[in-house]
Amino acid sequence: MRMYDVIEKKRDGKELSYDEISYFINNYCNDLIPDYQVAALLMAIFLNGMSERETADLTEIMANSGDVIDLSAIDGIKVDKHSTGGVGDKTTLVVGPIVAACGVPVAKMSGRGLGHTGGTIDKLESIPGLKTALSKEEFIENVNRIGISVAGQTGNLAPADKKIYALRDVTATVNSIPLIASSIMSKKIACGADRIVLDVKTGSGAFMKTLEKSEELARCMVKIGNNLGKKTVAIVTDMDIPLGNAIGNSLEVIEAIDTLKGNGPKDLEEVSLCLAAKMLELAGIGDESYCKQRAREVLENGQALEKFAQMIERQGGIPDVIEDYDLFKKPRHMYEFTSEQDCCIEKIRTDMLGISSMILGAGRETKESAIDYSAGIKLYKKTGMSVKKGELIATLYSDDTEKINQALETLKKSLVLGDSVEPQRPLILSYVE
Ligand code: URA
Repeated sequence: MRMYDVIEKKRDGKELSYDEISYFINNYCNDLIPDYQVAALLMAIFLNGMSERETADLTEIMANSGDVIDLSAIDGIKVDKHSTGGVGDKTTLVVGPIVAACGVPVAKMSGRGLGHTGGTIDKLESIPGLKTALSKEEFIENVNRIGISVAGQTGNLAPADKKIYALRDVTATVNSIPLIASSIMSKKIACGADRIVLDVKTGSGAFMKTLEKSEELARCMVKIGNNLGKKTVAIVTDMDIPLGNAIGNSLEVIEAIDTLKGNGPKDLEEVSLCLAAKMLELAGIGDESYCKQRAREVLENGQALEKFAQMIERQGGIPDVIEDYDLFKKPRHMYEFTSEQDCCIEKIRTDMLGISSMILGAGRETKESAIDYSAGIKLYKKTGMSVKKGELIATLYSDDTEKINQALETLKKSLVLGDSVEPQRPLILSYVE
């Protein structure tokens, strides 16, 4: 087989066979095919798409390019959850403990933030002492003992995706539905769960800006999962507005703890309960209405909060953070941004708000950048709300005053102010089963 022929076939809009996809992935991983040929193939895929069968084959081959986690030492049906990424999206920190408190094992591998979106592992590492680099044995032992563990992905999880994603990033080929879907699903399949719930975000803070495209991505991922024998369901949820009020690592952990105490923002609670109930349903503990009721029960009776405390302790963190938020690192500086006029928040460019938080130090501009765990934004006014002159819109936190000045400019640009507001769409937009 020659790479030239594979490129030519896809350039002409034809379907690649399993063997052709396997040839290009495996030889690229072994450095036997140069970047420029794979870049040409990726562009041909970007322009001509892939069939359902090709997308499932690509996913399976990328999933098998490295470690595939074996979770068979954990009893019960393991259900994973994945968000396509957003701003202020800390649902895993709420959903994981709820599901575990209902007796369904949560063995979850999560990623770090990149660009304007945050990542669960960075958030968890803002808890003093907490370790996310767990050996496979520790990870499984934690789930068997307390029902939950959230660990960082091992270095060798779907290495083909890592290599191809880096090339897509510099060849304008990221934004292709079969490439995004196979990239996400290859890592999910390699993580070893039996069933998968996907939270596909849509709107200005998401990868996919329109509902139509988000639903297309959701359908593509659900088909891949089901074709590869993992029952998969997607819920498309709003990311036109940040979820909750906190953006930034320790700020988000505190907000998740507040939610587990029943005092969190209602939007975060609603999306978390919906995802948790769907995970419980996929785990087979009951029908939709029973699972919703169970999820709410363990949230209200404190069992989910207790589960989160157990997880923190088991992973080496200080569980006292649950009661004493002063144990988190404190930022050296803060700035209160108030309104100069009476107005309404008509719209938020949520991706820019994520960038503002990243500038403060909460995210990485490059993979090597260090994170300031206490940096971020508390947003008090969101889309659809009116603001009085002098009222607080947001507080910015950072160790560096120059970063606060820069982030403030971006934050101001992210807010579209006006005189009136439109009714907001629901948070849960659709289910793809
Ligand atoms: N997240 C991924 O893991 N891969 C993509 O291609 C896009 C988002």
